[in-house]
Amino acid sequence: MSAIRYDLGSDQILTLTIDMPGQSANTMNAAFREALTDTVTRVKADLANIRGVVITSAKKTFFAGGDLTELHRVTREDAQTFEDMVNGLKGDMRFLETSGKPVVAAINGSALGGGLEIALACHHRVVLNEESIQLGLPEVTLGLLPGGGGTQRLPRMIGLEAAFPYLMEGKKVNPKAALKAGIVDELAESPDEMMAKARAFIDANPKCQQPWDQKGFKFPGGAPHHPAMAQKLAIAPAMLKQKTRGCYPAPERILSAAVEGAQVDFDNGSLVETRYFAELVIGQVAKNMTGTFWFQLNAIKAGGSRPDGVDKETFRKVGVLGAGMMGAGIAYSTATRGIEVVLKDVSVENAEKGKSYSEKLLAKKVSRGRMTEEKKAEILSRIKATDSAEDLDGCDLVIEAVFEDSSLKAKVTQEAEAKLASNGIFASNTSTIPITQLSEASARPDHFIGLHFFSPVDKMQLVEIIVGEKTSDDTLARAFDYVQQIGKIPIVVNDSRGFFTSRVFGTFVNEGICMLGEGIHPASIENAGLLSGMPVGPLAISDEVSMTLMQHIRDQSRKDTEAAGGTWIPHPAEAVIDQMVNEQGRKGKAAGAGFYDYPEQGKKHLWPELERLYVDASKASSVALHDLKDRILFIQAIETVRCLEEGVLRTVEDANIGSIFGIGFAPWTGGAIQFINQYGVRAFTERAKELAEQHGDRFAPPRLLLEKAETNTLFC
Ligand code: NAI
Repeated sequence: MSAIRYDLGSDQILTLTIDMPGQSANTMNAAFREALTDTVTRVKADLANIRGVVITSAKKTFFAGGDLTELHRVTREDAQTFEDMVNGLKGDMRFLETSGKPVVAAINGSALGGGLEIALACHHRVVLNEESIQLGLPEVTLGLLPGGGGTQRLPRMIGLEAAFPYLMEGKKVNPKAALKAGIVDELAESPDEMMAKARAFIDANPKCQQPWDQKGFKFPGGAPHHPAMAQKLAIAPAMLKQKTRGCYPAPERILSAAVEGAQVDFDNGSLVETRYFAELVIGQVAKNMTGTFWFQLNAIKAGGSRPDGVDKETFRKVGVLGAGMMGAGIAYSTATRGIEVVLKDVSVENAEKGKSYSEKLLAKKVSRGRMTEEKKAEILSRIKATDSAEDLDGCDLVIEAVFEDSSLKAKVTQEAEAKLASNGIFASNTSTIPITQLSEASARPDHFIGLHFFSPVDKMQLVEIIVGEKTSDDTLARAFDYVQQIGKIPIVVNDSRGFFTSRVFGTFVNEGICMLGEGIHPASIENAGLLSGMPVGPLAISDEVSMTLMQHIRDQSRKDTEAAGGTWIPHPAEAVIDQMVNEQGRKGKAAGAGFYDYPEQGKKHLWPELERLYVDASKASSVALHDLKDRILFIQAIETVRCLEEGVLRTVEDANIGSIFGIGFAPWTGGAIQFINQYGVRAFTERAKELAEQHGDRFAPPRLLLEKAETNTLFC
């Protein structure tokens, strides 16, 4: 069966329906390319009998885009063959576009990446007006570029500047917004209306030529050589560099493809695009990003870490204890996914305050036209703000997010368990206390688990599920289902102090503070953090977390280590933190003073006194930026290996996804473990040994890493 159905009607309108056999969505793979070439051959033969062409899809989505499995496999040696293949595919679409016959895209579902590029190659686009439909070119988010003509056609349609957010940031829009932006031409309220409008366009436009194929074509918004545009484009690379910090080649190649392509005719522009596309496809960053953001994320979503043999559960009623920052966010994320929420705090007033957080977020959606008042009211009606444990009656799951205090957590655990459904789960959102320890207060520790959300809960996609010593597989599987039901990404880790994410995050923050203690300029440290790809510098993030909290966590860890008969080895960052808090009274952002000053007016800036207190002028010239960057990335990657070695982490997928979505570990690397793989396991180990010699045993390669280096095997 061909992937493209060919229906030439008695009205001489040819409908091409893309329907890839055995696939849930249409992708631009070898079968599609073959079908397209066959289709074009048939069109050439039938051309005299064809008045126009409608391209649509038999799937729920219009077209999902490129085949990432295929792209992921392309190697440097294949580059030329790959370019030829892409140019061949584009040539087939170009034949339809330049045949003189009107070609209409009837977009019945989401059109992303290559899907939207097919639509852009048509003369007219009618899209079904459904909120869930998305249009966009998300290739850049995987380190790629829209190589099916997107960098050439979109700027010629809506102008270079207007096209940049779609091309370089992967902006996606719904049908209404796409119409407003000029990406589609018409909306349709039903599939029948969509097809009728497509046909009407053909009837009204018996001959069609793209604007860019017409003589005297004027680039919308100005061609690159137009003085106003030339001025803007001159500073574009520098502005882009500021955003990508040199870590991401894709946006820069997209800019080059669009601007260089805009200075030549369409067909030559298309060749320029293919060249840049191939360069990215064979590059390491795209391999890292597609590997992690596509294959590994999909493996997690498919339930890779969920125990088998447990029926999937749908949650109906969830209790949330504590309506503070985290509880309010958990209530919002749960209620928006159709689950009843009982939000309990010590007073109704506190609980209502927590509920008002949802009200605020929903009101913002309504004011932006993304939600109706009715929907908002419906979601809010699902949140019951209360101070009574009686309301927890029949909950399938209760999540506690009260203060970080073991005895308070023990008290609320017992109170809630008395009301939970017989098979109900109790979860703690603790950020530091081991789950096994907390579960000692529970009458049913097999039903006790950790659900570690990140702040702000409505934005952060990750939830770290922590399995205590007594947590059952059944509880884990059902907790996994809850996280998926609320649309978040679950990673599963075994209990450990700081679990996985906080543990690795701590190494990042401490390394930055340690550098300051060594005399390195704070601006260089922050710069190294950003240039290595972390979202925020280590000193800024220390202020966000608060140095008093860091002291508190450290003191608790030291007590526990010593109580267990171990020896506490102080981290060199500790002295700096103590000096900042105890001697300088600078606790962090919430206190208004930390490594940064937070003036009421104006932007935060590094505290000038840091220079006098810490900076050793001789280090300014002797410390290389790449050493600082290495320390920042290596210390986190090494701690991640320790988590794998100790069995805190169960899979490499969880390690990579957890490090990026939970800690903000540089996304260009594909995650903390992929960073080691792409660096080369042996080379990484040698560099770690060097760093250990220079900076201490915290960089010493763990046994698991040494074993991998010995056999030169990748982590997988
Ligand atoms: P918060 O201080 O904003 O809120 C705690 C809430 O618990 C307050 O509203 C308080 O009135 C309420 N509460 C106290 N006793 C209670 C009781 N007996 N019954 C019901 N409610 C009670 O604290 P936050 O930041 O929301 O943190 C809560 C938990 O989440 C802590 O365990 C914290 O370690 C953890 N966490 C915090 C993160 C953060 O970024 N703030 C991130 C991840 C976890």
